[in-house]
Amino acid sequence: MTSSILVTGGTGTLGGHVVPLLRDAGCKVRVLSRHSRESGDGIEYVTGDLLKGEGIEAAVDGVEIILHLAGGPKGDEEATRNLVRAASRAAGVRHLVCISVVGADKVPLGYFKSKLGAERAVAESGLPWTTLRAAQFHDLALTVVEKMAKLPVIPVPGGLRFQPVDSREVAARLVELTLGKPAGLVPDLAGPKVYGMADLSRGYLQARGKRRPMMPVRMPGKAGRAYRAGENLSLEGAAVGRRTWEDFLAERLR
Ligand SMILES: NC(=O)c1ccc[n+]([C@@H]2O[C@H](COP(=O)([O-])OP(=O)(O)OC[C@H]3O[C@@H](n4cnc5c(N)ncnc54)[C@H](OP(=O)(O)O)[C@@H]3O)[C@@H](O)[C@H]2O)c1
Repeated sequence: MTSSILVTGGTGTLGGHVVPLLRDAGCKVRVLSRHSRESGDGIEYVTGDLLKGEGIEAAVDGVEIILHLAGGPKGDEEATRNLVRAASRAAGVRHLVCISVVGADKVPLGYFKSKLGAERAVAESGLPWTTLRAAQFHDLALTVVEKMAKLPVIPVPGGLRFQPVDSREVAARLVELTLGKPAGLVPDLAGPKVYGMADLSRGYLQARGKRRPMMPVRMPGKAGRAYRAGENLSLEGAAVGRRTWEDFLAERLR
């Protein structure tokens, strides 16, 4: 059966993996972006802005499934509420799928709180829904360690740990969920290993053939305590990806 699917965030890192998978699975794919793009290659692009509330009605019109990946450092709750409002008014949306982040319900930082607000908006939408919380993508970890490696000394917040996951594995899981039955909040998806900040930086420096001294620092406040307690990790009951940070670096920095 051909499903017609709206993908928000279809132009981003995760979306860039998801969209071709959905198209190749035979779906009719529409992508919402703030920037206009020519449709082609089996993908329809529509312009709109979830935060400003522009173009959303037209984007959801006629679709059966919405895969909501759009996100940024701020405003995900509001953007999601705007999407949900339009989706629940549109006739025919039978599944709303949302990506969130591991620790959304625990880490006291604006981004995580906003993701939790977005999750709630989806769960309270009245539409059949599925939400997947994923750990940080390798791509994001790479952006961070690349910036750190530009400093003469790399600060390493003690106790800060991550379980980076491959964004392609998250994409594959999302496609499976999107084409499956609405499942509510499903088990988290995290990477196969837990790394401290020093491990992530060391792996990067090694792959680049660089050396940098590292300096332990303490992350202050509630957020520091939450990270040290591992609230951003999913150590039990999570689905675990296969590709490690080292695998990712070997491929990306080849
Ligand atoms: N990166 C991670 O480590 C990670 C981990 C767990 C969960 N997540 C979640 O996964 C999702 C995708 O992450 P990503 O790293 O792939 O993001 P990304 O590469 O930064 O891409 C962000 C996407 O969101 C769209 N977008 C942003 N603001 C928008 C707005 N106001 N209206 C419409 N579209 C908007 C952008 O589209 P245009 O620029 O084309 O408008 C772009 O496609 C996000 O929801 C993020 O919170 C990310």
